[in-house]
Amino acid sequence: KILILDFGSQVTQLIARRVRDSGVFSEIYPYDVSDEFVKNYGAKGVILSGGPNSVTEGDTPRAPQAVFELGVPVLGICYGMQTMAQQLGGDVQTAEALGKPREFGFAKIRARGHTRLLDGIADETTAEGHGLLNVWMSHGDSVAHMPDGFKLMASTDSCPIAAMADETRHFYAVQFHPEVTHTVQGEAILSRFVKDICGARADWAMGDYIEEAIAHIRAQVGDEEVILGLSGGVDSSVAAALIHRAIGDQLTCVFVDHGLLRLNEGDMVMEMFAKNLGVKVIRVDAVDDFMGKLAGVTDPEAKRKIIGGEFIEVFDAESHKLTSAKWLAQGTIYPDVIESAGKGKKAAHTIKSHHNVGGLPENMKLKLLEPLRELFKDEVRKLGVALGLPHDMVYRHPFPGPGLGVRILGEVKKEYADLLRRADAIFIEELRNTVDEATGKNWYDLTSQAFAVFLPVKSVGVMGDGRTYEYVVALRAVQTLDFMTAHWAHLPYDLLGKVSNRIINEVRGINRVVYDVSGKPPATIEWE
Ligand code: XMP
Repeated sequence: KILILDFGSQVTQLIARRVRDSGVFSEIYPYDVSDEFVKNYGAKGVILSGGPNSVTEGDTPRAPQAVFELGVPVLGICYGMQTMAQQLGGDVQTAEALGKPREFGFAKIRARGHTRLLDGIADETTAEGHGLLNVWMSHGDSVAHMPDGFKLMASTDSCPIAAMADETRHFYAVQFHPEVTHTVQGEAILSRFVKDICGARADWAMGDYIEEAIAHIRAQVGDEEVILGLSGGVDSSVAAALIHRAIGDQLTCVFVDHGLLRLNEGDMVMEMFAKNLGVKVIRVDAVDDFMGKLAGVTDPEAKRKIIGGEFIEVFDAESHKLTSAKWLAQGTIYPDVIESAGKGKKAAHTIKSHHNVGGLPENMKLKLLEPLRELFKDEVRKLGVALGLPHDMVYRHPFPGPGLGVRILGEVKKEYADLLRRADAIFIEELRNTVDEATGKNWYDLTSQAFAVFLPVKSVGVMGDGRTYEYVVALRAVQTLDFMTAHWAHLPYDLLGKVSNRIINEVRGINRVVYDVSGKPPATIEWE
């Protein structure tokens, strides 16, 4: 397995993602794990991630020195390269000190000579036999002098030391980001590092996972009882199906209806789990509690905290009734684990606070059961299908924990949620029903996430002979591989026209529909 140390880059997860794509198991830990931890981990290789800090400042993250004494290959990426350079006796300078511009975006690097990492990997080859690679860069600082023993691996005009290697010690470092898809050969480079240079075995596959996971759950909980908060989302659903497969009626699910779900979602969850799978599910109607707490609150972060907090309170009250439960199961998946591990470490900058992980009251005194903790989203989906959950459910677009609460801008009201639910359902229905001729796929499958957003502003319209003065709905549809960056989807005009017509005609209270044409970054996918 490969150990990835996280220095707080927004894209660290993608490193693990790519490494696992090549069949090698990898895990991310914070950069400040102890030397002891690093020595005992058993890594075949170590990758140091990027990060938002500058090694030129005194009190910034460094890799545990043990990383460089393990005798296994090490790959530094961006900040990881800079801290490697500095910790091994080289020199890093800021863009200002070097008189170079900061660099964000595409760059073409020249690979100098042969190194095991880049040998034979290039997008083009020059007449002199140098490789050219299109990569994605995002940095201010650069390595100004390499540590002893290192040779230059690649450069660009604005970044003379864009990659370096000490092949005797198997230390490699790149200033660009091989983990993002914009770096065309990124996957090949990471695969080269973990398989050929580290010699890690490519034996990570979904197939045996179910049996292993079931055995593990049984061993963990024995004959004790487990409760699980079912949200209707993919993660908690797959967790419920997996745990139910392992321990049957020892599992009780609690489904909290907070009034911020999609149209008919509650009934669908009950149908699928209670009726079809025979899982014990308690449905709690908490709509009034949530709406009461949200009244008058407009700040997005405050809303997220209230919804998260109230969810825990309702769930806690319900779980106290189940006095025999000893375990709390959660559909925590790997990206959640990493994201919350980053918090409080001052490494990654928090853009939005997600409410799914952590925050459980200490007094719940329940042990945590998180059978999906090691899996990425697409791995969770494959597991869900393998467990017999309906394909459409498992491949549903992601839905945020705070639900429609972050899709109703400003104050949340039941009236707004009711309008939004209906508009959103029309949009989704039309996406599912419209097939793109070029690909033969429907537009729901061609987009990664699509939904309607309620804008609490009124505009003037005319319907029949009458003036209307009603609310606006924005449609959002994006295409993305990892949800960290996204393009707005180029939906056909006919489809947009039909959705707009249907919403305005069928949802009384909305007289205007607009389409969101912002990418991420600079916008985020959700509006709050
Ligand atoms: P943003 O809006 O940050 O969203 O571009 C990226 C992805 O995360 C989802 N999202 C959430 N998911 N709890 C979740 O489970 C949350 O609090 C939350 N906020 C955003 C969002 O839907 C998108 O898929």
